[in-house]
Amino acid sequence: MLKDKKILIAVTGSIAAYKIASLVRLLIKAKAKVQVIMTESASEFITPLTLATLSKNPVYTSFYKSENGEWNNHVELGLWADIMLVAPASANTIAKMSSGICDSLLMATYLSAKCPVAFAPAMDLDMYQHPSTKENIAKLIAFGHEMIAPGTGELASGLMGEGRMAEPEEIVSYLENKLNPINFYTNKNILVTAGPTYEAIDPVRFIGNASSGKMGYALAEAFAEKGANVTLISGPTNLKAHHSNIQTISITSAAEMYAAVQSNFEKTEIFVMAAAVADYTPTLQVKEKIKKTTGEMNVELTKTIDILKYIGEHKSKNQISIGFALETENELSNAQSKLKSKNADLIILNSLKDKGAGFNGDYNKVTMLDKQGLVEEYELKTKSKVAEDILQKITQL
Ligand code: CTP
Repeated sequence: MLKDKKILIAVTGSIAAYKIASLVRLLIKAKAKVQVIMTESASEFITPLTLATLSKNPVYTSFYKSENGEWNNHVELGLWADIMLVAPASANTIAKMSSGICDSLLMATYLSAKCPVAFAPAMDLDMYQHPSTKENIAKLIAFGHEMIAPGTGELASGLMGEGRMAEPEEIVSYLENKLNPINFYTNKNILVTAGPTYEAIDPVRFIGNASSGKMGYALAEAFAEKGANVTLISGPTNLKAHHSNIQTISITSAAEMYAAVQSNFEKTEIFVMAAAVADYTPTLQVKEKIKKTTGEMNVELTKTIDILKYIGEHKSKNQISIGFALETENELSNAQSKLKSKNADLIILNSLKDKGAGFNGDYNKVTMLDKQGLVEEYELKTKSKVAEDILQKITQL
């Protein structure tokens, strides 16, 4: 879960600095990318060489590289990171962070970092209890930083109490939770529709369409992978969902899809309507196979219920609905009007004009239009990569 996450560890002077060696080792084992910066006093507690070897990156302590007089760019480090973790965070560094004292590379990096900042205090019981430390910590929290709270136990001073830096395993699980949008989807109830619907004319003939269901199945897999409970309502396809978080309901017609959506309506938090639902169904479904006659034949059609529109009209403020629009002309304006008329929160537009994208292929090229009026055009990608983009977008809605 931490694969390729960029973690900048800022080590300050505290006896707990020795724990950073095992923290770095755990993060590298989890395939994270780690860079370490230290204060001068931190290097009294653990050598930069140890952390450089474990992190597989140079460790920076000052603005200048001693060997050639080059400058260590603190702005770049702050921009590179997905998170800056100050650990151990000494009382001294916490005080400097709260008042913006810039007297080291570490502090300059902190002051210029654009990423989230977390800090894991480590200090003696009385220092931790001191009103000025408490006030400084409260200030950091007010800045939006998160504290990985210290534990209670034996301290370096021999005293017992609060102030022991969180264990490396706890810090790793904090980082996993913080850096994975997985948490947004964990245990969320998601309903996905996929594939075509078949509208029977007689027992052997139907009106259908060429939808393969691949986009809807890719979405269901992506949600399930992130810990959501997925109800996949699927029209006839050759696909099978494998993830244990996916419950598949197989249906054939638009009316059956509507009934399945209705019976799962209350519990659903996010509706994603990727199915190509027939807009019309034969008015009469003939019980026996229709025999050909000499003359012409007409099939009278009746409108099916627009399921996405139904959801838009009945959803509560805790439910969101996402629709697809497949257009061949006036793509953007048609998609805009679907967003409005179906009261959707997001419309994923695919145009048949886009080369390589379409019903049966493995690729798709989408434009997402949200309720706030934002229109975002994406590159041609595999349907599972498109699913990832859609999941990412939903977290912003
Ligand atoms: N949809 C639905 N129920 C229907 C028809 C469509 O839920 N009876 C959903 C689709 O799953 C899709 C969205 O509505 O998410 C857009 O479908 P589309 O067929 O492109 O739009 P229509 O409203 O049917 O308009 P048109 O056919 O004129 O483009």
